[in-house]
Amino acid sequence: MSFTVAIDGPAAAGKGTISRALAAAFGFAHLDTGLLYRAVGAKGGDPVQAALSLTPQDLARDDLRSLAAGQAASRVAVIPEVRAALTAFQRRFATQEPGAVLDGRDIGTVICPDARVKLYVTASPAVRAHRRWLEVGGDAAQVLAEVIERDQRDMTRAEAPLRPAADAVVIDTSDLTIDQAIALATQVIRQRL
Ligand code: C5P
Repeated sequence: MSFTVAIDGPAAAGKGTISRALAAAFGFAHLDTGLLYRAVGAKGGDPVQAALSLTPQDLARDDLRSLAAGQAASRVAVIPEVRAALTAFQRRFATQEPGAVLDGRDIGTVICPDARVKLYVTASPAVRAHRRWLEVGGDAAQVLAEVIERDQRDMTRAEAPLRPAADAVVIDTSDLTIDQAIALATQVIRQRL
């Protein structure tokens, strides 16, 4: 049976870095599910049609990492039909042998409620905004405002809101180095393997 690791948390908490490191360490596949929503938002037109017709090329666009693409993603992510259109792909991905790491907002709660390991990776808004600012540059105050606005939308939406699963292990990376955060996450997986 495949080993699924579900990693959820707010923007720029370190989910992506931790997920990639875990996937490499354990030989698991990795899916950054935020990229799916970013690609739907960036495609324009009817978001439901965009979600139903996503192609690998849509996911390979080089403008998906911008702040604007993040905002567009979180706006289309509130639409239940968009989420439904992306569910089967994510669930199929999660069943790969020998295992898969999926990171997003609703992996442990909705997409893979039976995941063997669930992590909720978080950090203070100021720390997360600083990390995002190091990536995208621009006005630091605006980056903080956008991070807070996006979290608020993700946490309060009716469909699949961002929240820790009841059985998730919470890792707060505010005062951790990348290596420390990865070591903690690795330890949780080793205990369950
Ligand atoms: O993780 P990332 O910042 O790329 O996600 C972009 C947006 O996509 C999030 O703010 C959220 O609105 C949406 N998302 C989601 N469910 C996921 C992954 C991302 O709603 N599993």
